Amino acid sequence: MTQSLTLRRPDDWHLHLRDGDMLRAVLPHTANHFARAIIMPNLVPPVVTGADAAAYRERIMAALPEGSDFEPLMTLYLTEDTDPEDLAAAHASGLVKAVKLYPAGATTNSASGVSDFSKVAKVFEKMAEIGLPLCTHGEVTDSDVDIFDREAVFIDRVLDPIRKDHPALRVIMEHITTKDAADYVRSADQNLAATITTHHLVINRNHILAGGIKPHYYCLPVAKRETHRLALRAAATSGDSRFFLGTDSAPHTDANKLLPCGCAGCFTAPNTMSILAEVFEQEGKLDQLEAFASLNGPAYYGLPANEDQITLIRETPSFPAQIDTPDGPVTVFDPDMPLHWRVA
Ligand code: NCD
Ligand code: ZN
Repeated sequence: MTQSLTLRRPDDWHLHLRDGDMLRAVLPHTANHFARAIIMPNLVPPVVTGADAAAYRERIMAALPEGSDFEPLMTLYLTEDTDPEDLAAAHASGLVKAVKLYPAGATTNSASGVSDFSKVAKVFEKMAEIGLPLCTHGEVTDSDVDIFDREAVFIDRVLDPIRKDHPALRVIMEHITTKDAADYVRSADQNLAATITTHHLVINRNHILAGGIKPHYYCLPVAKRETHRLALRAAATSGDSRFFLGTDSAPHTDANKLLPCGCAGCFTAPNTMSILAEVFEQEGKLDQLEAFASLNGPAYYGLPANEDQITLIRETPSFPAQIDTPDGPVTVFDPDMPLHWRVA
């Protein structure tokens, strides 16, 4: 039995760090294991301009633990007023690595997202021209579309038309939750990839809804039925370079999760690597963990893989049930299974 596993240091291609006290509380948990992360721009107000991204980056750097070499990869929040020239300048300076599309109202702090996609066509043209990738929150928001169908409908109604209009646009479907999305990614011969979260490899919708409602398993896109979870595990562990890790670690205080209308998001930064090792071992694919967590992401973003390494050892890890923040406790994602790997 393999007792230790050494990988190139992983990156997280979809991460929520928030701001202020919450940023300072959660950032060390990511910087501990990950070299880089794509930082989501859904602050209040959102990170819209190059200047916003530069200022947010400074706040992240200031919040890093002493001696950490973690590198935040900044994104811009796409609005119907996004200026293609501002975005191009932020990309040319090396500051911004992707642009994030939230359909208006799709998830936490997405009110300034896009409703009329014709208004962002010029932005997509510019992004295709300069090679700046588009990250999508792939759910329609129409109230007449069932929440469990919103990702599949997004592919047909929104994403496929965008990709046909802008074939040179590089797209990352973020936090995919369905077999439909995994199949759609495989059907594309270029310019399409997907991130998969830790929690969607572990939970299906029963975890949220069966035997009592479990707010800590509620995230968006919401976990789907078991067939979809199995399709995601197959994609993540396949070695296919179009699939890579984006944890979507999304901290909310327990006070904000445990409400009649609670927030969406799972906080997985502390235990993601232990959980992934467990999942990949269950699938008999420990040898593919490095591709998923450390190689495929940088390759798609056109960045070098990290030179340094981390080692996982076969020992029972221990994680706190919650971390304390000045805003109140944040519950750490419970994978509901024993874990056998810890980061050395
Ligand atoms: C994210 C958040 O809390 O910012 N929540 C989530 O459930 N994933 C937003 C998002 O990525 O959808
Ligand atoms: Zn997210």
